[in-house]
Amino acid sequence: MVRNPKGMRDILPPETLKWRRLEILLSKVALLYGYGEIRTPILEFSDLFRKGLGDQSDVALKEMYEFVDKNDDVLALRPEGTAPVARAFIQHHLYDSPMVKLFYDGPMFRRERPQAGRYRQFHQFGVECFGIEEPFVDVEILLLVKRIFSLLGSPLTLHINSLGCNECRPRYMDALRRFIADRIPEDEELDRFMKNPLKLFDSKNPEHSIVKSEAPKITSFLCDDCKEHYETLMDFASKLNLDLVEDNELARGFDYYTRTVFEGYVGDDSLAVIGGGRYDHLVAYYGGPDIPGIGFAIGLERLLTTLDEIPKVDSEPTKTYFLATTGNDMVMAAFTLAELLRSNNIGVIMDLRQGKLQKQLKLADKMEIENVLIMGEEEYKNNTVTVRNMKTGEQMVIPQEAVING
Ligand code: HAM
Repeated sequence: MVRNPKGMRDILPPETLKWRRLEILLSKVALLYGYGEIRTPILEFSDLFRKGLGDQSDVALKEMYEFVDKNDDVLALRPEGTAPVARAFIQHHLYDSPMVKLFYDGPMFRRERPQAGRYRQFHQFGVECFGIEEPFVDVEILLLVKRIFSLLGSPLTLHINSLGCNECRPRYMDALRRFIADRIPEDEELDRFMKNPLKLFDSKNPEHSIVKSEAPKITSFLCDDCKEHYETLMDFASKLNLDLVEDNELARGFDYYTRTVFEGYVGDDSLAVIGGGRYDHLVAYYGGPDIPGIGFAIGLERLLTTLDEIPKVDSEPTKTYFLATTGNDMVMAAFTLAELLRSNNIGVIMDLRQGKLQKQLKLADKMEIENVLIMGEEEYKNNTVTVRNMKTGEQMVIPQEAVING
């Protein structure tokens, strides 16, 4: 009898209809936030993942499907999407633009022990945004995630943490190592924790649960810049009603992460349906310019098990605006308007670096977006917004209501 390999499965009708609807809904939300689709090969050079994820990560150590090609190249079936997207970002010089937003949707491969929610071929929908250091992009990405789950009617609990940067994280890792060495007897596991002390937080060993809860917290080790980034993010997030659970034990499994990391759970499921975070030095590490990045990936198999019905969707926004502000104190007002527009099927792209209006308009020009909205203090006070046609330079103040209603 013929059969498929373990941990991989066929998807048949009517289940495939759910997949199609879900993928359309996901890509539509990404378009509303100004993400464009990228498709990378299923195969990459194996080293791309060893380097990016860390050769001590479980995925690189034991879960990659690798083979030697006829010309001796060592290739791997991609276990995740961030490394290939960063590779493409560098290879195609996409960094010529100050902000690049990409989404993807496709199969990934990890040779894990198959069990509920864990497959060897599974599917991820993910987004990656390059170029923005400001925490505004972290907030926007979390809003995007929240929108997906609220459209699906799926209650998501998002856990968040900061892993610090190359300056403050080593200090934390040293303190954690010393703490673990005092508390855990010498054995193989201690060895593993000494290599990467953050692994303590992934430990399923019940004897470690007290050690975990008493371990030093990263938040007390963050440098001033990382602290400010985290605090601004949390402040913005709470003003925008993003319900986040601060979780100092959240470590994520890959080496590329810096600062913000997050994971999401539906109901009381202990397997994360979504994982993501910042990787501010991955592009430089691969030999590109030092450009920050942030993104997430949702596991579609895991997501689908939490859903009964998936609403039907039209696949594209009716229109897309570039929304600029007269300064950083208008960002919150702009975020609120942007979310309202997106709820009305209108796409919005913002320059998440913010700064001067002229700089933002330059980006709109570069992205070839003709319709620009400007949010200033007067507009905010009067519930209006300035509409600017980038081609003609014509400007007009109109009620926000008029833009929302198309
Ligand atoms: P990850 O946490 O390894 O992150 O995977 C993201 C999601 O993929 C998980 O939350 C889970 O839903 C799903 N997933 C992972 N492994 C399996 C499996 N064996 N079977 C079924 N589903 C699975 C990443 O992959 C990062 N690249 C996410 C990211 C993007 N970080 C920044 N940008």
